[in-house]
Amino acid sequence: MDVMHAILERRSIRRYQNRPIEQPVLNKVLEAGRLAPSARNQQDWRFVVVKDPDLRAKMVDACCGQRFIQDAPVHLVVCANNVRDMACGQPARTVDCSIALSFMMLEAMECGLGTCWLGSFDNQAVKTLLRIPDDYQVVAVTPLGYPDEQVDARPRKALDQVVAYDDQWTD
Ligand SMILES: Cc1cc2nc3c(=O)[nH]c(=O)nc-3n(C[C@H](O)[C@H](O)[C@H](O)COP(=O)(O)O)c2cc1C
Repeated sequence: MDVMHAILERRSIRRYQNRPIEQPVLNKVLEAGRLAPSARNQQDWRFVVVKDPDLRAKMVDACCGQRFIQDAPVHLVVCANNVRDMACGQPARTVDCSIALSFMMLEAMECGLGTCWLGSFDNQAVKTLLRIPDDYQVVAVTPLGYPDEQVDARPRKALDQVVAYDDQWTD
């Protein structure tokens, strides 16, 4: 499978099979995150793998009641501790973790696994539940597991709505 195929086929998955993820497969997904680029190559991130069923049940509340995540055998929680804005004004931590999770989501797709990026979660609640140190922030969460649904591609804007060439910005 090439990268574009994984990009084309990935969907946000909100139904998961009751089937564990084999550790070598999980390792491949985590490896994709480990190898992601980061600002100054600082890699100030942690990928917390939540497998424990009780913790996963409690993650539902911490993730604003999104019940579908409980069925996934793993929750991936991406955190970072380097609070620094880059010269461009963007927080390096958020950007780094977003790249790492994107890489992991595409590798998950290649491994036949589903994901769903979650931005709706209570940062402090997730940290307390998983005993993540105070100086870390949770940037994103995703359930991870074998999909139990087939989802059509969701709509995207046309290329000419999102791309500008040179100084030809259009509204
Ligand atoms: C930053 C971000 C936050 C998101 N937060 C949630 C969320 O909390 N819950 C959820 O079910 N989906 C969430 N999504 C998934 C989006 O709804 C989904 O990516 C979008 O509808 C496009 O669908 P697709 O991923 O299947 O292409 C989030 C996606 C992103 C990128």
